[in-house]
Amino acid sequence: MTGPDLDALAATLRAAGCVFAEEEAALLADAATDGGALADLVARRVAGEPLEQVLGWVAFAGLRIAVEPGVFVPRRRSELVVREALRLLGEGEARDGARRPVVVDLCCGAGALGAAVAASAEVELHAADVDPAAVRCARRNLPARTVHAGDLWDALPRDLRGRVDVVVANAPYVPTAAIALMPPEARDHEPATALDGGPDGTDVHARLAAQAAEWLAPGGYLVVETGRTQAARTVALLAAGALSTRVVTDEDLDATVVVGRRRV
Ligand SMILES: C[S@@+](CC[C@H](N)C(=O)[O-])C[C@H]1O[C@@H](n2cnc3c(N)ncnc32)[C@H](O)[C@@H]1O
Repeated sequence: MTGPDLDALAATLRAAGCVFAEEEAALLADAATDGGALADLVARRVAGEPLEQVLGWVAFAGLRIAVEPGVFVPRRRSELVVREALRLLGEGEARDGARRPVVVDLCCGAGALGAAVAASAEVELHAADVDPAAVRCARRNLPARTVHAGDLWDALPRDLRGRVDVVVANAPYVPTAAIALMPPEARDHEPATALDGGPDGTDVHARLAAQAAEWLAPGGYLVVETGRTQAARTVALLAAGALSTRVVTDEDLDATVVVGRRRV
């Protein structure tokens, strides 16, 4: 393809409301195989589809994660879950280096969190999601046989019960009424199953917490992303599930994580 006019492309994207128009123009031009393909990509972006779904990938924790239309786009703030999980795994390995720790990415979407943990630690990884589009996408980012389809814990192989060292979970936590206030990119292009956490945002956290102690190994951890306003309720739910809890925040990432631990 002869070089596209990046200035014109950026002007088109800026007019459509893209804040980082120059960067996006370069990325879209790079992703397109010819002029026709570029026109299609630009049309999708101008129509409001998230850049990452148009490109087919997102940068996450130093990895390039495949994302598809209709699948939640992994957010940078979720890197806090990964960082916390890796820290806990580091401590665990110091205690027992004899076997690979079992890590589960529940509500995995594209599988970014699990992929990032597995990229930095020797683990036996499993991932699961209820949405067939997410499962398909995660199977591009993780070994396909390790990605399970189904509702929360029910999706996992039975023999993991009581053996899971760390669960990472970015489950839906947007209060139902707040979805209408989200940017159109999320509201219109990410499925409600990926966003809707029920009236106060913690319905899925309640279901995660209720069975966590059954699936975690003694001393195992559940590392859950939550919202600033949901954190107290997420803590209460994990505590009600017999886990000891603490909250980790990162101002730069605007991220809040609740860590629950099954007592030894
Ligand atoms: C906020 S998205 C996060 C996806 C991924 N963890 C990430 O951070 O990129 C929540 C995900 O939870 C999945 N999900 C919602 N309810 C679920 C359930 N009951 N069982 C399993 N997965 C569920 C959705 O399909 C969606 O992929």
